[in-house]
Amino acid sequence: MTPTFFDKIAGAPKAELHIHIEGSLEPELIFKLAQRNGVRLPYESIEALRAAYAFTDLQSFLDIYYAGASVLLHEQDFYDMTMAYVERALADNVVHTEIFFDPQTHTERGVAIETVVAGIERALADGEKRGLSSKLILCFLRHLSEESALATFEAALPLFDQYAHRLVGVGLDSSEQGNPPSKFARVFAKARERGLKLVAHAGEEGPPAYVEQALDLLKVDRIDHGVRSIESPTLVKRLADTRIALTVCPLSNLKLCVFDDLKQHTLKSLLAQGVAVTINSDDPAYFGGYVNTNYLATVEALGLADAEVYTIIRNGFEASFVTPAARDALLAKLDAYWRSH
Ligand code: ADE
Ligand code: ZN
Repeated sequence: MTPTFFDKIAGAPKAELHIHIEGSLEPELIFKLAQRNGVRLPYESIEALRAAYAFTDLQSFLDIYYAGASVLLHEQDFYDMTMAYVERALADNVVHTEIFFDPQTHTERGVAIETVVAGIERALADGEKRGLSSKLILCFLRHLSEESALATFEAALPLFDQYAHRLVGVGLDSSEQGNPPSKFARVFAKARERGLKLVAHAGEEGPPAYVEQALDLLKVDRIDHGVRSIESPTLVKRLADTRIALTVCPLSNLKLCVFDDLKQHTLKSLLAQGVAVTINSDDPAYFGGYVNTNYLATVEALGLADAEVYTIIRNGFEASFVTPAARDALLAKLDAYWRSH
């Protein structure tokens, strides 16, 4: 691996399609907001909090992730969190990002969904002026009830109109095992009726059958993670044939012990079988890096070649929820860059 190949990847224009904005809260900002808002944290210091980031599975991470998000109370907090991510994305040459947020994490603490979206939107509008285009995706927490998801969707209806340029879809995240996509078929049907884009976490810790449910019952446009799809050759063929993209997050998979070693990651094999794989950061403040770190670690561990990395970056733009004209412009930007480097 020559340094110039790393430099080429780091400098390439990229899309990020799987980033939880609450997962971009760095420990320093958590402590700053806790102080600003008078929120008591169960950790004595930034170092103590960071030391707790030794996860054994998805749930062990989610417990700390929801505790971290408890410092977010005011519109300015959501702005500051999102702006910090915008800076990181720009530094990594991300030119388009599609951001998840978890309204129930905040509404359950009495923070209005309008406050959440207004703060995120203000930062994304500022990011747009600096060359980062973006979309926003509202995620339902799957460990909560269907009723809670339906109520969240109803509460968000005016926001889908007010922020139609930004808030383009719904997703499904949180504890996967035991909370299959089928639990949310009705709320996804409502979102589909409104013409919203649909995504769902599936096949991260859950079985290939959950990916199939997300496709068949939720009718999603993309699968978040989906790495366990590899256990079903029929499913891999289906993903390849339909070009339903997987938003893969290699460092997340490593930190949450989906794979013991990045060298065991199945991304390269999925790609070789024709699946539209993309690389993303998931919760970069918790998993050791933003999008470029994910690319570089994966390229190093799996020995990805120039053409493979080009395809992965291209897949990110092709699977994005921008207009066809915007997609063509992003792809042209990538091609001009890749040709000249
Ligand atoms: N919420 C934030 N990160 C998540 C992940 N990796 N899986 C499920 N839910 C999440
Ligand atoms: Zn995720």
